[in-house]
Amino acid sequence: MGKHSDYHGKLTLASLQAMKATREPIACLTAYDASFARIIDQAGADLVLIGDSLGMVVQGKSTTTGVTMDDMVYHCRCVSRCLKRAFCVADMPFLSYTSVREGVCNARRLLQDGGAQMVKIEMIGYGLELVRKLAVCEVPVCAHIGFRPQLMAKSGYFSKQTQSEEDLLQQVKDCVEAGADLLLVECGAAHLGAKIRIIAAQPVIGIGSGKDYDGQILVMHDVLGISKQMPSFAQNFLESRDSIQAAFAAYVEAVKTGVFPSC
Ligand code: KIV
Repeated sequence: MGKHSDYHGKLTLASLQAMKATREPIACLTAYDASFARIIDQAGADLVLIGDSLGMVVQGKSTTTGVTMDDMVYHCRCVSRCLKRAFCVADMPFLSYTSVREGVCNARRLLQDGGAQMVKIEMIGYGLELVRKLAVCEVPVCAHIGFRPQLMAKSGYFSKQTQSEEDLLQQVKDCVEAGADLLLVECGAAHLGAKIRIIAAQPVIGIGSGKDYDGQILVMHDVLGISKQMPSFAQNFLESRDSIQAAFAAYVEAVKTGVFPSC
């Protein structure tokens, strides 16, 4: 449990900040239920996200946009009560922040009813204003930038989102200025990682964005190679291993030792 980490006991935001400072890569995975949460926690993941990806990998929908707050609170409770070490982050789903006030009420549900330690918000609509408000309210908050799956309600199924490098770097600056505690960059250009880590004093987690981040996250079903659509940046860690436990432990080790992602 946590054998590759210098950080033990229940992790906090301060632990993640210390990992960034000491350059210990932060290994993150999604989870949606108690059994997998327990296995992932025991495998040594530092952060577990109850992602709205549950719309696809648990509910069988084609996008994340049908996930409701009630879904999120339910899955968040299932996961959070099983995490003895990993830091617990929950997604604010599509249409849960159509105003800042509504976003604050829904963030409260995830933290106080769901047991999350932090909420994650995609930077669409009132996202940035909500980060600012939650920061004032001392709510730990992660800003999700780069590819934002919730934009698929308008743009269609996994269409490519084109964003210039300038726009992505501006998004980083805006989120930092608004008071985000953690950043998650999805499908950013790999060569921007080093720049982003310098702009942001906060830990920055990458997915499909190359090596140069403070941590990495994958959807747990991708790590097990059982997703309907495996993203090109993901890796099946169950292949050539004989248990789910071994697959998650191998993923954590690969992130901690800088082996995953390879570039
Ligand atoms: O919903 C989710 O699982 C996510 C990850 C892909 C980062 O946002």
